[in-house]
Amino acid sequence: MVTLSVIKADIGGYVGHSESHPEILDLGREELEKAKQRGLLTDYHVSHCGDDMFLIMTHSLGEGNVNVHRLAWDTFVKGTELAKKLKLYGAGQDLLVDAFSGNIRGMGPGSAEMEIEERQSDPIIVFMADKTSSGAFNLPLYKMFADPFNTPGLVIAETLHDGFVFEVWDLQEHKRITLKTPEDIYDLLVFIGAPARYAVKRVFHKASGEISACSSTDKMSMIAGRYVGKDDPTMIVRCQGNFPAVGEVLEPFTTAWIVEGWMRGSHHGPLMPVALRDAHPSRFDGPPRLVALGFQLADGKLIGPRDMFDDPGYDEARKEANKVANYLRKHGPFEPHRLPLEEMEYTTMSSVAKRLEAEWIDLPIEEAASSTTIADQQQLQQPSAEVE
Ligand code: F6R
Ligand code: MG
Ligand code: MG
Repeated sequence: MVTLSVIKADIGGYVGHSESHPEILDLGREELEKAKQRGLLTDYHVSHCGDDMFLIMTHSLGEGNVNVHRLAWDTFVKGTELAKKLKLYGAGQDLLVDAFSGNIRGMGPGSAEMEIEERQSDPIIVFMADKTSSGAFNLPLYKMFADPFNTPGLVIAETLHDGFVFEVWDLQEHKRITLKTPEDIYDLLVFIGAPARYAVKRVFHKASGEISACSSTDKMSMIAGRYVGKDDPTMIVRCQGNFPAVGEVLEPFTTAWIVEGWMRGSHHGPLMPVALRDAHPSRFDGPPRLVALGFQLADGKLIGPRDMFDDPGYDEARKEANKVANYLRKHGPFEPHRLPLEEMEYTTMSSVAKRLEAEWIDLPIEEAASSTTIADQQQLQQPSAEVE
């Protein structure tokens, strides 16, 4: 069995929150190389999207392994020391606790892991996002695994025809539910259509039970109880054979879907698929970016990466993202560009609102009544039985 572990964190930005410094990425490579030399890792690849560093690792120790998680944590801690020396912006931003306690989940960094039986040939794609939230992959995952207009294999390939199983997490209540496609798609959409609360954690091939996709669902604000930066999620997707083809996995990103994140983690903006060389969100700290690195697995070795969005086939999506960005930006501080109020609770806006709390004056009863709904008013006007 091979375990794929992608663990990521923002440990300092260069310049501002726009990019990762090359020395930090080099440090990541040195640490993982040492771990490979001492036999902990089979292979690794260190990459980035914006100000987040992604440690892509393979090993044989299973998911949630304490030594692999400690390696990631220690690498982020060392990286933070260097970030502080270089005075990078927000050094150690995603490290929300002081000491490692056995598993990186709940400590700030995001993680996606899967233990698999490596196939004869096993193409995988690692997605890396910046300036957006966990849940941002809900719509693309639905299209990949449940929408025949995106994935013709669901209709015409025998291996995909039975469909898939989605494991959805309720990030507020800390619960999970398993729903099958195609039979449960309406139920599934009730939940995953609300990505601020529900996120697709895993997708399995229904007939064989094999895992096909895993995304990071770690929500920084839920861990910290306040806004401390965006989740900037990652996702691993296995392709071909029993799973959607590489091109079916990438096809959802020909549309620049609107996600939450962008400036101050408080805005809706288009998710722009980009080549690694363009993974440095600057315009209004965005727009949110997505990179896709493709690998072939060979006995746990990562053959690659191929920079999958480095393809003119995504030029239109990038253009669309810029158009949508221009349009949304015109709304300035108004919804729906700015996130709805429930989401703003987890941003810096709540402290401003608190300051003005005492200045709100109760409306007199009759004015309060005039601001109720028509239905309420009709009810108010109904003569009561006693009066009659
Ligand atoms: C969004 C993001 C940036 C910052 C913004 C303010 O995920 O990282 O948009 O929120 O640049 O940053 P601070 O508050 O660190 O000055
Ligand atoms: Mg940052
Ligand atoms: Mg980031």
